[in-house]
Amino acid sequence: MAIKAAPRVRSDAVPLRTFRSTGRPVAIAGLGIHAPENVLTNQDLERMVETSDQWIRERTGIKRRHIAEPGTTTFSLAVEAAREALAASAVRPEELDMILVATSTPDGPFPSVACRVQGELGVPGACAMDLLAACTGFVYALSAAEAYVSSGRADTVLVIGAEVLSRLIDWKDRGTSVIFADGAAAAVLRPAQRGAGFVAWCLGSDGRGYDQITCGNPTLGGYASGESTPRIAMKGPDVFKFATDIFIRQAFAVAEEAGIDIDDIDLFVPHQANSRIIEAAARRVGLPMERVMVNIDEYGNTSTATIGLALHDALRQGRLKSGDRVLIAGFGSGLTWGACLLEWE
Ligand code: UT7
Repeated sequence: MAIKAAPRVRSDAVPLRTFRSTGRPVAIAGLGIHAPENVLTNQDLERMVETSDQWIRERTGIKRRHIAEPGTTTFSLAVEAAREALAASAVRPEELDMILVATSTPDGPFPSVACRVQGELGVPGACAMDLLAACTGFVYALSAAEAYVSSGRADTVLVIGAEVLSRLIDWKDRGTSVIFADGAAAAVLRPAQRGAGFVAWCLGSDGRGYDQITCGNPTLGGYASGESTPRIAMKGPDVFKFATDIFIRQAFAVAEEAGIDIDDIDLFVPHQANSRIIEAAARRVGLPMERVMVNIDEYGNTSTATIGLALHDALRQGRLKSGDRVLIAGFGSGLTWGACLLEWE
């Protein structure tokens, strides 16, 4: 297959920061997911806001999404995903050195969701904290976990992406209410048993775009202003353009840092924000859709949970095999972005 050329970069485009993994190789040992049982279909949304099943499917790829029932919290979704990931990786909770939860919707400002998960798993002692990088949070958390394990500061780290975004949705805003949803995904990171594990990374942010996806008015101080109920707001078309560009640039940057060609990538697992963004990026990068994981139809955009949900589905569908080169990429509010290339164990 022909080697794809990297895109010409606009002169005003933010330079991308890439780096290679160092130290001992680190791999994902197991995955777990959890979504609320309650399903909200496009037809349900037709009765709530001026939209149509056809518009949502054609413009976003979403058919249904899971919405937390009253009483279900980010913590309760996170702990179920964690339990499955621990079982899948044959890791006992007491082996955990660290729990990292990426979330934009903690159940409260404190304590952290990570501490609640730790308490529920009954593993006092492990370091536990939350990390906020919006939809890029799962990739940021993977990178932090990998750094701890590769350096020997930790042997076993539980990474979770969990959200209950539905409680921050303005259900009258058809630009966001049809997209965002609830769910959780978890991964256990350990020293790789064989193969390279994580190989290369690209992480960054551009705070000049802080107002493109918000929850609470940031110019008023958001939560701090005492705003009663902050709601998600998004400049959809601007984010669409940013997202497509950053997916493309990250793919080439990470492949170059890893020393491979785009054609060497066996599976691209992108943040599930919009199937049109994913398809446009894949087309311009030169990856056929058979090598791209899309499951936004089932879950919608669950922010930090999408990548774990997609990895888990890929594994279940037999699309992830040992030795496969996997490109993971995300972007989100901030604006933030993050991608990595790993050899699947
Ligand atoms: O993880 C967080 C990152 N977020 C994203 O990645 C989101 C990126 N952006 C998007 O996914 C898309 O911009 C949206 C799905 C949010 C919107 O799709 P779009 O193709 O960019 O639509 P648009 O905002 O340009 O609107 C096109 C038309 C407008 O009508 P007119 O002015 O052409 O008559 C909208 O009012 O579609 C209308 N519209 C809708 N119609 C039915 C917007 N939302 C809806 C809707 N149902 N839900």
